[in-house]
Amino acid sequence: MTSRFISPAPTRRTVVKAAAVTAVAAPALLGAASPALADAGAPAFLHGVASGDPLPDGVLLWTRVTPSPEAVPGSGLGPDVQVGWELAEDRGFARVVASGTTTASASADHTVKADVRGLRPATAYWFRFTAGAAVSPAARTRTAPAADAAAPGVRFGVVSCANWESGHFSAYRHLAGRADLDAILHLGDYVYEYASGAYPEAKYVVRQHEPRHEIVSLADYRTRHGHYKTDPDLQALHAAHPVIAIWDDHEFANDAWAGGAENHTPGAEGEWAARVAAAKQAYFEWMPVRTSTEGTVFRRLRFGKLADLHLLDLRSFRSAPAKTGSGTVDDPERSITGRAQLDWLKSGLAGSDATWQLVGTSVMISPVAFGSLPAYLLEPLAELMGLPKEGLAANVDQWDGYTDDRKELLAHLTSRGIRNTVFLTGDIHMAWANDVPVKAATYPLSASAATEFVVTSVTSDNLDDILHVASGTLSVVAAGAVKAANRHVKWVDMDHHGYGVLDVTAERSQMDYYTVSDKTDPAATTAWARSYRTLTGTQRVERVYQPVR
Ligand SMILES: [Fe+2]
Repeated sequence: MTSRFISPAPTRRTVVKAAAVTAVAAPALLGAASPALADAGAPAFLHGVASGDPLPDGVLLWTRVTPSPEAVPGSGLGPDVQVGWELAEDRGFARVVASGTTTASASADHTVKADVRGLRPATAYWFRFTAGAAVSPAARTRTAPAADAAAPGVRFGVVSCANWESGHFSAYRHLAGRADLDAILHLGDYVYEYASGAYPEAKYVVRQHEPRHEIVSLADYRTRHGHYKTDPDLQALHAAHPVIAIWDDHEFANDAWAGGAENHTPGAEGEWAARVAAAKQAYFEWMPVRTSTEGTVFRRLRFGKLADLHLLDLRSFRSAPAKTGSGTVDDPERSITGRAQLDWLKSGLAGSDATWQLVGTSVMISPVAFGSLPAYLLEPLAELMGLPKEGLAANVDQWDGYTDDRKELLAHLTSRGIRNTVFLTGDIHMAWANDVPVKAATYPLSASAATEFVVTSVTSDNLDDILHVASGTLSVVAAGAVKAANRHVKWVDMDHHGYGVLDVTAERSQMDYYTVSDKTDPAATTAWARSYRTLTGTQRVERVYQPVR
């Protein structure tokens, strides 16, 4: 979800290239011989390397090779090339414990993945790729704790909403500089689909992305992903930590749902299904996420007995937004998860023996009413949160637009006595710490079912950016009004950018919120802003006056 003050000029394409259905490169074979490399010009690794989705015995490795100068992302050009990979226990690669080869081809935009197994749990490894004479940068990754281990702690960097044109990815650089993280949790809006100058408007663009037009075709999505992967801070993040990513709407188009999006024009921009297929193909090619034959990112990762991490796909199966007249926000026929995913989540939560149930949800689950805000604040907030300016007091792109699913999920938590559920959220370009009440109207006299930590955007616009005023001038007032109308909201910061660090132990889950000094400054500094924690068994957040580290 985002706001835009201006609509992109209707330079819509009349033709959408059909999405070629291709699979990503097959997993490499462990222990295969060194690659015999084709004479393919001058291979080079120009888009960094990455790892993701750590398991107790494995991790997914990723890179993109450029086998020849014309083989730029999205071109469909360039020969097949053999790519070797190796994974070692030391950064000098003296103790290589796994290696293999795979073929990079134009059919997968010359991206490759190696899904390595046979590794030790809770262990750091180093990996790199080779192609011809080229050797990629070396990168660090880490496996998850053993499934039955009483892991003493797990620590994640948490990010969302990194719009290239809004600024520099300093949040990524500062997270890359931390050696104490198990993984990065990316909650969506890793790329944005807009034409250059559409969001933010042209005079506020910090740097231009490629391609300049709105991305619609497979070539477009590949080009945009490829361009993001040239960012030095983004490359540093992927080189330092495994990334666990889910998508939100902008990996497709603004306010996406199963049958369309706010920023999709059927006909002029082709069929929605073709656009989604192209976006998903490019996503699975370019992200260190295991490719799903079902075309979804909902999945579960485990961090010992300490935490199960349930990751949601809130775009592929969602019903049409209420604001298009498809029904009311309370309509039980409408869903944000789809029936199968909600059942999967409920059974996973009920069946887990882990101390913490971490739920990665791209959009906010806590109910929020904005009706008490004065008009001069409601209007920019409406822009930011996609509310109708007439004053409807709910953001229907969040779980607030699909209240029956939320009611069912929260009732499941309370009726089954499922404790310690913590929702981890991005999307709205603000930082929040919330209890998740069963009935917001009577809270805190009624129960809290869970807690929610929302991280702000890496760069995407928030309140002060939209109003073009100094950071903090209006947010102080607006935040006070939001808290007064929503007593389960313990903190909201509406005008900083940054990231979170989530630290989980048996006793508590704590989110440390960090801000960056200036998103337009490629050398921005970072500072700790606030911390909130949930003590085990409480389903409530409380402020903590220092970060974990
Ligand atoms: Fe966003």
